[in-house]
Amino acid sequence: MTLDDKLGQMTQIEKDSLVPRSDLATHRIGSVLSGGDSTVSPNNAQTWADTYDSLQRTALGTPLGIPVIYGIDAVHGHNAVRGATIFPHNIGLGATRDPALVQRIGRAVAEEMAGTGIDWDFAPCLCVARDDRWGRTYESFGEKPELPTSMATFVTGLQGPTLGADPASVLATAKHYIGDGGTTGGVDQGNTQLTEAELRAVHLPPFQEAVRRGVGSVMLSYSSWNGVRSHAHKYLVTDVLKGELGFTGFVVSDWAAVDQLDGQSGFTGAEITTAVNAGVDMVMVPYDYKKFLTLLRGEVSAGRISQARVDDANRRILTKKFQLGLFERPLTDRSYTSGVGSAAHRAIAREAVRESQVLLKNDGGILPLAKGAKLFVAGKSADDIGNQSGGWTVGWQGRSGPVTEGTTILQGIRAAVTDPATVTHDRYGNGIDGSYTAAVAVVGETPYAEGRGDRPNGMGLDQEDLSTLARLKASGVPVVVVLVSGRPLDIAAQLPDWKALLAAWLPGTEGNGVSDVLFGDHAPTGKLPMTWMRSASQQPINDGDGKSPLFPYGHGLTYGATPDPDPDPEPTPSACTAQFRTIASWSGGYQAEVTVKNTGTGPLTGWNVAWDLGGSTVSSLWNGSLTVSAGRATVRNTAHNGALSPGATAAFGFTANGPTGTPATQCAGS
Ligand code: BGC
Ligand code: BGC
Repeated sequence: MTLDDKLGQMTQIEKDSLVPRSDLATHRIGSVLSGGDSTVSPNNAQTWADTYDSLQRTALGTPLGIPVIYGIDAVHGHNAVRGATIFPHNIGLGATRDPALVQRIGRAVAEEMAGTGIDWDFAPCLCVARDDRWGRTYESFGEKPELPTSMATFVTGLQGPTLGADPASVLATAKHYIGDGGTTGGVDQGNTQLTEAELRAVHLPPFQEAVRRGVGSVMLSYSSWNGVRSHAHKYLVTDVLKGELGFTGFVVSDWAAVDQLDGQSGFTGAEITTAVNAGVDMVMVPYDYKKFLTLLRGEVSAGRISQARVDDANRRILTKKFQLGLFERPLTDRSYTSGVGSAAHRAIAREAVRESQVLLKNDGGILPLAKGAKLFVAGKSADDIGNQSGGWTVGWQGRSGPVTEGTTILQGIRAAVTDPATVTHDRYGNGIDGSYTAAVAVVGETPYAEGRGDRPNGMGLDQEDLSTLARLKASGVPVVVVLVSGRPLDIAAQLPDWKALLAAWLPGTEGNGVSDVLFGDHAPTGKLPMTWMRSASQQPINDGDGKSPLFPYGHGLTYGATPDPDPDPEPTPSACTAQFRTIASWSGGYQAEVTVKNTGTGPLTGWNVAWDLGGSTVSSLWNGSLTVSAGRATVRNTAHNGALSPGATAAFGFTANGPTGTPATQCAGS
């Protein structure tokens, strides 16, 4: 390879920036992406496949014939493609607590991507969202590291057990490394101010797990850690990720993030050198590739970027291209094209929607609704596929309205009842009278993505929702609220007016998964992946921080369950229990979570848990500090999760080598 060949491999550009198309070959560009608003016309799987193949043929026509790798944000289904199956956003998947289901979703997404030729998914986001004001909270599986860690099964779903093992395998991306969900104030692309121990405890475990699963690429975060941007952080990228964690894939920068390093628009050689020397292997340019390549070449010629660094980046990128099978199978496998939006994939999505519903309130057992009941359905998101899908749906920001094909929540309700004529719908709640058994209000947030979704100024319902709810309330009919939102909202003031509250998150195209739960075809099993604030002023609020939430992390009701008559017979001061649970196991190792509960009558200021390791060794542990002595592990709380009010819980997690089992744990509080 010539130097130009190598520099081209390190370059990723937006497909629409290529003018003329032949520049792809001229500049030996190694990778193309579609940004959130990039599309094809007409927007269907066939045209995407044709577009992909035509670009790939251009690349194959170069002297070395190295195929391009094409990346896209298929973050909840192959969401740029109209007609694709749209799955719940990650926050809803976190509520399912079902890593095996998430792996099956990853596989379905990979198959839909394969049908359009696209090789590389900028997913999963393994962010640990710690402040719900952050506009990307819905891209997070949950606020505690063990939840995103357990959902790294998505990587295995996308790639398969080994990358390229079959034609539908696509390259996964663990993003955004590191601390994107920990910024002060929940500001997108902001500054994460934590000690190194806290950063490692909260934000590193999901990446460790993704690396263990062989994730092929890692995308860096726009955010900074204590004032230094990830894209400039050699210690975090080269020493920790590539060195300590042993990541052998390649590191890609985020969209124009290298160009942002000096705070001014327009690339400089210094920015490129900083990023590449920090450990960035491929730069998501994404537009001005000529200027980028000229500057990169200049930095290498001047010796500020070494040949060895360029070779290392190329080795990493080309290894993944080889493993993916791009050289053997560069063009779209059209046998997958008809699978885009298939009934089989929609069935998986519906299952995920069902499992992601979290029942937060159900006074008098108003849910499940009877299928013969006279119902009034209202709210701006009752009949809106765009609202229920959220951002990153056929467009970066998503939008309200019929953006793609699917089943709205209203359509799901109509399909579930005995006679659709018993269901009346009015978006604003006009026309309701006292004759209805229940009013179902589907309200919440309208679509957004990234920083545009930041909500520093309050997290309540909008005026339209409040007016609709007031109309329903005035009728005297009991109100069931289905909340369609990318995060917990500030609803404490309205909650007393509602008989039931179902958090539906951003379910995607299969709205009948919501009606499955409303009518009791599936009893709710979802558990909160985030602590639900009592007021926006509590943000950030997270499990174990001693604040008093409206609903705690892990809360979720079901139908027909008899409450535990005596959950805590003889409370004693400073008592605790520790419940040990194996989350995943593999040959030679396992991952477990231990939930500590304050079972005493007074607050705890700290706790420790001990158990016999039974021949296993702990390889990493988060949310606690470990000491091992004579085969016995003792884990003490960390600074952020020691304070527990009576009844409150905290959890720590770990991965271990050796045999799994359920050891007897001892908990001591202080
Ligand atoms: C692109 C997105 C990108 C965003 C970043 C948009 O124009 O379509 O892919 O994430 O810009 O600002
Ligand atoms: C986002 C990434 C995304 C990229 C490409 C950026 O703005 O932060 O998550 O993968 O755009 O669309």
